[in-house]
Amino acid sequence: MSVLDLFPDSARIEQGELEVGGLRASELAREFGTPLIVYCEQTLRARARAYRDAAPNALVVFGSKAFPNRAVLRLLAEEGVGADVSTLGELEVARRAGIGGEKIVVHGNNKSDEELRAAAEADVLYLVLDAPDEVERAAAAGIKRALVRVTPGIEVDTHEAIQTAHRGSKFGLTPEQTIEAVRLGTSLGIEMAGLHIHLGSQLLDLAAPRMLLDWLAGFVAVCRTELAWAPAVVDVGGGLGIRYTEDEPAPSIAEWIGDVEARLARDFAAHGLPRPGLILEPGRSLVGEAGFTLYTVGVVKEPAEGPPWVAVDGGYSDNPRPLFYGARYEALLANRATEPSDRSYTICGKHCEAGDVLVRRIALPHPQRGDLLAIPDTGAYTLSMASNYNVLTRPAALLVADGQARLIRRRETLEEILGLDAP
Ligand code: LLP
Repeated sequence: MSVLDLFPDSARIEQGELEVGGLRASELAREFGTPLIVYCEQTLRARARAYRDAAPNALVVFGSKAFPNRAVLRLLAEEGVGADVSTLGELEVARRAGIGGEKIVVHGNNKSDEELRAAAEADVLYLVLDAPDEVERAAAAGIKRALVRVTPGIEVDTHEAIQTAHRGSKFGLTPEQTIEAVRLGTSLGIEMAGLHIHLGSQLLDLAAPRMLLDWLAGFVAVCRTELAWAPAVVDVGGGLGIRYTEDEPAPSIAEWIGDVEARLARDFAAHGLPRPGLILEPGRSLVGEAGFTLYTVGVVKEPAEGPPWVAVDGGYSDNPRPLFYGARYEALLANRATEPSDRSYTICGKHCEAGDVLVRRIALPHPQRGDLLAIPDTGAYTLSMASNYNVLTRPAALLVADGQARLIRRRETLEEILGLDAP
């Protein structure tokens, strides 16, 4: 395992330089500027196909919050993937990407009436009910088919901010409220098609899908007794983590989904229940490894204590994950990729905040002003969570394949941001 393995599938080192999709990092930086998020088409397609191969009969919808981009949604749609959306904005991105309502699942823990109506108008496959009072509101808005998001009370091993299925979670209904919601929805004429659970994100332990399916089969057995109802479909959310660092392996899509499939069949059969249809909502594991961020190195300096600082032309505003979740990344000096490292450096951004650190203590070949620094595995939850802190413009994104680069999101301009203030 080397740092290059953390980059997209098409990544190579050619004449000492990082190349992805047949294009050199320096060519991309020259033409499109930095910071720049570069997506590899080959990797995106490979991850979508891995889901399809592992669960050929499941509906896979992309957790679009990871990177709600029209071109990416369109590309994934070519591989049979639909969209999981959680706001009016994400729904609109999916619609403009040409995703039909029959491949859209709508989430949200606090949906507005406008969002409920938009979901009904788009005739989405399922609205996922997330609150007791949403059942009547959804019926009034014209929703025809729904799932209920149930909170199983399972605590998963991931950062606290991205755990979603513990008893105190803001998401979902308690098992008792879920049973009531199915009863009420049915009486209001909504087709109550099934149940949804999403345990959390960046999960690296196969114990998670095991607990989920085990709990779900038990709960469905209770539903059958109480309601004479069983879900025709179960949506087990997303959550599969990716490998961000060399020392943190992640299960493969095949392993994770293979486990889900096997347990769905076995755990439901153990309760004498028919096997329901399956929906999967991967976000990070579809797009995370496909993207990397390219920065230009500016100041390199030596503090009185600790490793030298290497400052890049972005930071917290294009990747808040280190500060939010203590996320760890690796880095490669993209234009001098084969030079031996001389010591450890800390990569920071240009924001007025001491916590604006992207990578701590990484061995690099003495970076210098003008070098290109590439951080892998930034395809998910970076640009989608980017901000304009310190009035920085948000970066552009590219899709690369076979020596061709396509701008799939242009760089924000300063005028666009300045135009928001009253003159
Ligand atoms: N389905 C639902 C209902 C979700 O809430 C999410 C993510 C997903 C699917 C996709 O999950 P994934 O496969 O990407 O783990 N900003 C955080 C991650 C937040 C995840 C929110 N929900 C981060 O940067 O780690």
